[in-house]
Amino acid sequence: MATSGRWMLWTLCVCFTAWENDALRINMRESFVEVVRGDYVILPCSFFTSTRLSRLNIIWTMAPFSSPDTPMQVIVYDHGQAVEDPSLTGRVAFRGIPSSADIILNDTRVSDGGIYHCMVNNPPETADPGIGELVLSVLAPPSLPACQWDGDIDTGGSVRLSCSVAEGIPTPEIHWDKVNPEEISLPINMEGDLSGSVQIVNVSSQTSGLYRCSASNVLGTEHCYVNLSIYATPESSSGILQAVLLTLSMSLVLLALLVLVLWLQHTGQNGKWRERKGEDERCYNEIRYTPSLMKRSFV
Ligand SMILES: *[C@@H]1O[C@H](CO)[C@@H](O)[C@H](O)[C@H]1NC(C)=O
Ligand SMILES: *[C@@H]1O[C@H](CO)[C@@H](O)[C@H](O)[C@H]1NC(C)=O
Ligand SMILES: *[C@@H]1O[C@H](CO)[C@@H](O)[C@H](O)[C@H]1NC(C)=O
Repeated sequence: MATSGRWMLWTLCVCFTAWENDALRINMRESFVEVVRGDYVILPCSFFTSTRLSRLNIIWTMAPFSSPDTPMQVIVYDHGQAVEDPSLTGRVAFRGIPSSADIILNDTRVSDGGIYHCMVNNPPETADPGIGELVLSVLAPPSLPACQWDGDIDTGGSVRLSCSVAEGIPTPEIHWDKVNPEEISLPINMEGDLSGSVQIVNVSSQTSGLYRCSASNVLGTEHCYVNLSIYATPESSSGILQAVLLTLSMSLVLLALLVLVLWLQHTGQNGKWRERKGEDERCYNEIRYTPSLMKRSFV
């Protein structure tokens, strides 16, 4: 009987101690926090205790998304003093200490993204520190994507357009479009999350034009371009050359005519404008005559 009584007392004690240990409670208020890179953010951590804050001890740690297995200390409150990690000096501070364990993080960077833990201890009240967790996500607009092309740009060849973007949170979506001379959306092959390519086979002069890659997320869109000129087959290229030469020679003829007309007008005005009306008329006729000359040169 005495043994079972002692057993009951012991159980009571354990329960009481456990209840006492639970006295300090942590409430993170939010489990997921988002901030745009460069802005400040408040990481919430409230705690409730019934005892005097005689030896309050708070530790914030952070495990970056890039290396979740190597958490670092962010800021510590101990013996009435706050000490921040040297890598965060001037960017992190407690806000409302000692009644709250919230911290403010200024000038946020993408590398600040990770899993944060807030640990609060107020001995002798708690044996185990209370602990809360939240995830901080630092959003960033897409960086300028890089456009490239490779392949054979002779008629019948095949060309690959590729585009890659270095950063952006959330992960940017990549699209390829032809924007000139007509606007067409192109099917894309993703190569990992951050780069995508377009394969164009059997290229022809219709393939020539301006191609645009877009990288976009909720914070914005960035573009890069490829200007593709497909070399035509030799026959048609000599045709183009002929056309160019013809246009060029016709322009020269027109220019010569224009000079001639201006010269005639000039001589007409300076020379016999006032003295002889008949001469004047002749000059005028000459000017009127030129359009038919021009017409003839076109035929
Ligand atoms: C963070 O920026 C605010 C102003 O936006 C400033 O009042 C505060 O002191 C800064 N905190 C730190 C730790 O630099
Ligand atoms: C390539 O395109 C041309 C027209 O642009 C077509 O006549 C030809 O058959 C195509 N060749 C192949 C292999 O698809
Ligand atoms: C693309 O190239 C063509 C010919 O090389 C040129 O006429 C055109 O202006 C270029 N377009 C752009 C947007 O660079």
